[in-house]
Amino acid sequence: METLQVNTLSRPYCIHVFKEELQTEAETFAQKHLSSLKAEKHLILTDENVYRLYEKTIEELVKNLGAEILIIPSGEKQKSLRRAKKIYTFLLEKGFHRNSLLIALGGGVIGDLGGFIASTYLRGIPFVQIPTTLLAQVDSSVGGKVAVNHPLCKNSIGSFYQPSGVFTFLPFLNTLPAREFRCGLAEVVKYGVIRDRDFFFYLLEKQTV
Ligand SMILES: NC(=O)c1ccc[n+]([C@@H]2O[C@H](COP(=O)([O-])OP(=O)(O)OC[C@H]3O[C@@H](n4cnc5c(N)ncnc54)[C@H](O)[C@@H]3O)[C@@H](O)[C@H]2O)c1
Repeated sequence: METLQVNTLSRPYCIHVFKEELQTEAETFAQKHLSSLKAEKHLILTDENVYRLYEKTIEELVKNLGAEILIIPSGEKQKSLRRAKKIYTFLLEKGFHRNSLLIALGGGVIGDLGGFIASTYLRGIPFVQIPTTLLAQVDSSVGGKVAVNHPLCKNSIGSFYQPSGVFTFLPFLNTLPAREFRCGLAEVVKYGVIRDRDFFFYLLEKQTV
């Protein structure tokens, strides 16, 4: 595992990058990293595709944490106030209080929506990101931008709200459709173009571009 420290004024946090699958790490991961955040209740928010592919692993996490789980349809349409309202209702009905942890396990849609819920429910509860797309791993899970869409404008209702941690498991990328991988790769190439010439040429050399 490699760890990067992200320093922000509101809440410094770490990005932990694992080469192993979450499956082989699930129990230790839950005990070591998530339990150390000392939340009394946990919600795992994920989407149908991710759940279908990683059901066993996710259920293992649920069991280890005694967590509740919410599985929503996949897709950009889910980043809405309508979906947020349904999730607030679930949290209220299940008695989630301020010392609860939201675990956003999925791509950028789940991260943005989960972060938005965490930033607003009871004026803010802690959340962590477990990004499962390349775009979420290299971009949306970092930086603290959380939002839902308004029918008139994408990402127009949101805030800056830092996670308590980001846990990146690289093997999630093995099941990513090629198109989704390319979307994330475009962001990686941008980093090279914007500020790291050597990195850009490294990518060219590896013929990943
Ligand atoms: N907050 C930010 O700073 C920021 C930055 C960039 C993008 N975004 C947001 O991110 C969203 C896009 O994120 P995205 O591209 O990850 O889309 P996404 O979350 O919709 O995921 C893309 C698809 O891949 C599936 N998927 C996820 N993980 C998978 C896996 N491991 N294997 C197979 N399939 C998997 C999902 O179910 C979905 O169908 C947009 O809403 C965008 O606005 C936010």
